[in-house]
Amino acid sequence: MATPHHIADSAAPLSAFTAARNRLIVALDLPDAVRVRQFLPRLEGQIQWLKVGLELFVATGPAIVSELVDSGYSVFLDLKLHDIPNTVAGAVKTASTLGASLLTLHAAGGPQMLHAALDAAASMPKAPALLAVTVLTSMNSQQLQATGIPQPPAQQVELLARMGMAVGIRGFVCSAEESAQLRAICGAETSLVVPGIRPAGAALGDQQRVATPTLALQNGASHLVVGRPIVQAPEPAAAAAAILSEMTAALQR
Ligand code: C5P
Repeated sequence: MATPHHIADSAAPLSAFTAARNRLIVALDLPDAVRVRQFLPRLEGQIQWLKVGLELFVATGPAIVSELVDSGYSVFLDLKLHDIPNTVAGAVKTASTLGASLLTLHAAGGPQMLHAALDAAASMPKAPALLAVTVLTSMNSQQLQATGIPQPPAQQVELLARMGMAVGIRGFVCSAEESAQLRAICGAETSLVVPGIRPAGAALGDQQRVATPTLALQNGASHLVVGRPIVQAPEPAAAAAAILSEMTAALQR
């Protein structure tokens, strides 16, 4: 597997480019490890962070996480845990042995579940930072109402983030539409990881609450998650380079 240590040439000062690189997470939404091994060299060493989500994890099991970590990548393990506290605590402990740097769980699991997850992580020597998913970026008001939640996404995101902060969670997944609001509530030290990123003109797919890389960073996102605009691009390296260059420019402003 290609190592990610080569940093692509950039006219921008290294610091802004490196900051952009450290804030971009590519979602490896691919069906198996063979496809991953074929895909990664196509990024030409530009990417530091990779997200392993349900599609890939169900296909490969934990081995893919270790493989990516051993190749020098930082791994975001997006398992979106949501179960009874005891079960989630057990999953957090097991996941903490894999070498991932970030792990997601659903804030909607409630304070007791989040608390159990934090306790489980604290008991492990190399636990990933826990990120609570607020409202999925694929949800709009209508979708949320269908699940019995009458308020619009922004209000529900704020409620869940305040609940998470109260139990000690210091990282959230939200859309760019709520990231400025959450940055004001959660302070500078909290990670705000924002999926639903679409460069101008890109297809939305199933995403509803979307933003460009520039807008997401302006709104206080600490990390951007990009899947299909890079993974499905005819030239993934060119797509990644364009996003990194947009991010670098936004961070220099
Ligand atoms: O292809 P696309 O850029 O839409 O991929 C976004 C990725 O971020 C997917 O892997 C999806 O599972 C994940 N995600 C999301 N919304 C959240 C949390 C995670 O889209 N709230």
